[in-house]
Amino acid sequence: MSATEEAESLKMLFRNQHAFLLPKIMFTASDLGVFDLLMESKEPLTSVTIAERLGTSPFGMERLLDACVGYKFLQVERKENQTLYGNTNLANLYLGKRSPKTQYYSLKLNAEFVYMRAQHLADSVREGEAQTYRLSDSSTKKFYEAMYRSESGLREFMEYMHEMWSLCGRDVLNAFDLSNFPLVCDLGGNGALAKEYISLYPNSTVTILDLPEVVETGKKHFVSSEEHRITFHEGDFFKDPIPEADLYILARILHSFTDENCVHLLTRLNKACKPGGGVLVVEIVLNEDRTGPLEAHIYGLVMLLCTAGKERTLSEYNALLSAAGFKDIQQKKAILFDAILGRK
Ligand SMILES: C[S@@+](CC[C@H](N)C(=O)[O-])C[C@H]1O[C@@H](n2cnc3c(N)ncnc32)[C@H](O)[C@@H]1O
Repeated sequence: MSATEEAESLKMLFRNQHAFLLPKIMFTASDLGVFDLLMESKEPLTSVTIAERLGTSPFGMERLLDACVGYKFLQVERKENQTLYGNTNLANLYLGKRSPKTQYYSLKLNAEFVYMRAQHLADSVREGEAQTYRLSDSSTKKFYEAMYRSESGLREFMEYMHEMWSLCGRDVLNAFDLSNFPLVCDLGGNGALAKEYISLYPNSTVTILDLPEVVETGKKHFVSSEEHRITFHEGDFFKDPIPEADLYILARILHSFTDENCVHLLTRLNKACKPGGGVLVVEIVLNEDRTGPLEAHIYGLVMLLCTAGKERTLSEYNALLSAAGFKDIQQKKAILFDAILGRK
């Protein structure tokens, strides 16, 4: 290794060791209102002004702002001997609570819930939580129980789910021409993909099948009562009757469950599916040689910490879908996520 390479490795080592601070930095700055203030002020501000307007110590605020500059969430300019802070495009778009494509609830979930679970990563790796709970998938159930314990927790989790599809829902649904599937059932949906679907396909209707708490909150806060083409159906998709449909959407569902439970669920869908219908699985698919993408590895660890599931390669999804009776399985890449379509 050359001296330059070693210096680069040391730098990377240092940064990676401290990368645990990153979700905290992003969420703290967002939650305190730094990005909203800078977006709305229309001009860059000093750390003292930002601290004053947000009611924090100037000393602490300056540290936070400088770290945000280091990670390129903020930019600085020097004017008349003052350092002025302004948002980068990334902050304007995603990081403010009032940003047009805000990811606030995603930042919160990662900086609080997942961060806490990550304290136990070594235990999860040692015990292989997914294996321990293999038969009952009870770790996935426990995850939802923890999330849905309070109405505010449930709403925040649903906001988090919506945020992702506000960024890439349309792209995922555009991966295939789904115009031959007017009657849709989104399992474990919450309204975000359903809204995209009916706006893309004017003759379609979507039934959302989810747990009773989600259905209640979804009706109250996420889907307007004027939206007659979206209906809610409460139930447990492992046990309760599955509504008949041309297309079943499973977005970020299979990666929470064991292979056995995935095949059980997919088999139920295959039985309920209209002839000529299909299933659309939306997940981040692992490369066959498991070298990436990094996003799949990240989700894989989150699944290990929170559920009984895992990310899978296309061959692995193929095996699950085929075991349940689906054929003609095709994959299309969308932004961040992959869409896999299987036909009955
Ligand atoms: C990870 S979220 C995915 C939500 C949505 N499809 C998306 O991608 O944004 C999983 C969803 O499945 C629902 N869910 C989990 N287990 C379920 C079950 N046994 N029956 C029905 N819904 C379930 C949860 O309530 C939650 O809304």
